[in-house]
Amino acid sequence: MAGVNVAIVGTGLVGAAFIRQLNGFLKRTASPYNVVLIARSSKTLVSKDFSPINLDTWESDIQASSEGAYSAGDIVAFLEKSPKPTILVDNTSNEDLAKSYPLFASKKISIATPNKKAFSSEVELWNEIFDNAKHSGAEVYHEATVGAGLPVISTLKDLVATGDKVVKIEGIVSGTLSYIFNEFSTVAGSKVNFSDVVSKAKDLGYTEPDPREDLNGLDVARKVTILSRLSGYEVESPSAFPVQSLIPKPLESVTSVAEFMEKLPKYDSELDKIRKEAEAEQKVLRYVGKVDLSGSNRSVQVAIEKYDASHPFASLKGSDNVISIQTERYPNPLIIQGAGAGAEVTAAGVLGDLIKIAPKL
Ligand SMILES: NC(=O)c1ccc[n+]([C@@H]2O[C@H](COP(=O)([O-])OP(=O)(O)OC[C@H]3O[C@@H](n4cnc5c(N)ncnc54)[C@H](OP(=O)(O)O)[C@@H]3O)[C@@H](O)[C@H]2O)c1
Repeated sequence: MAGVNVAIVGTGLVGAAFIRQLNGFLKRTASPYNVVLIARSSKTLVSKDFSPINLDTWESDIQASSEGAYSAGDIVAFLEKSPKPTILVDNTSNEDLAKSYPLFASKKISIATPNKKAFSSEVELWNEIFDNAKHSGAEVYHEATVGAGLPVISTLKDLVATGDKVVKIEGIVSGTLSYIFNEFSTVAGSKVNFSDVVSKAKDLGYTEPDPREDLNGLDVARKVTILSRLSGYEVESPSAFPVQSLIPKPLESVTSVAEFMEKLPKYDSELDKIRKEAEAEQKVLRYVGKVDLSGSNRSVQVAIEKYDASHPFASLKGSDNVISIQTERYPNPLIIQGAGAGAEVTAAGVLGDLIKIAPKL
């Protein structure tokens, strides 16, 4: 391999773990990957002569750098001058950068990212990214956009590429909502109030600062959009199918998080009723994304579902994710389970993508 030049954007939880893991990988393997740009929102460390950036000292070096923010266009313009093939590693959740993936792909800049925005917005953006990549020869990998480092997307892609047909996918793909429902509804029977579990999850830092960003179901809808598209069912956008919000209607417009948390207990009885109904059937409640391609009426949805105590989803622990993939070859579903969030596992998913892309360039 002649080597590749890598631009890393985003040095937050995942980005910093990624740089640490990449540094270790390069020291262990002496692979010819050079990091030539590291960017955060206000500062950029750039090696204009494409010599490798020192990954032992990047934190102080970026602090000392006089280069300000780089736009997507600036990064493309810089990478276009690279004498070697290039890879963008996008470790942000930035929408503008995601919308620029077609531009990167058209310039043969490959992409490895845990940022789900580009792959779960309008289908036109998805098509533009992959069409441009096909024309230019760029590679686009996004394993960590569903289930963090779990091998969900690679497995699904391999199943489809080898001619298998997806029948149904069911998944608990939000670590936050996994935790909340694993606490709220247990095989042994739980008495805890929904609002108390949400409050505990918030205190533990499992939710977004505004828990409504988890409870609205959009994160799950985005992940299900990706799974559906990879399964061959081209959903238009994450708002094109039913998504059950866990935010009581009257609290949707409440402005402050504090007021939302204070008023949430008023609505505990609604979910308690559904839990009691499930318990009467020896079932538990889980918040699940579903892609059902079994009949002629193909469907995608996100909702609270009931599962038997013996079902693998019922015994889920902590904030783990679980994805069940039923295909023609796997009538008994293939199940992928484990930590679905966290900086180290997510960064490992991104690094795995980089390691797969580089030899192809
Ligand atoms: N954390 C997880 O467990 C997890 C799991 C699965 C997927 N993900 C995905 O991984 C991505 C990163 O998550 P994270 O938890 O690491 O987020 P984070 O800690 O908030 O870090 C985001 C980073 O992106 C940088 N950034 C934002 N906009 C930028 C821009 N326009 N140009 C350059 N840099 C920009 C920020 O810069 P500053 O440092 O200057 O603020 C920060 O370094 C997200 O897409 C997330 O959905 C995360």
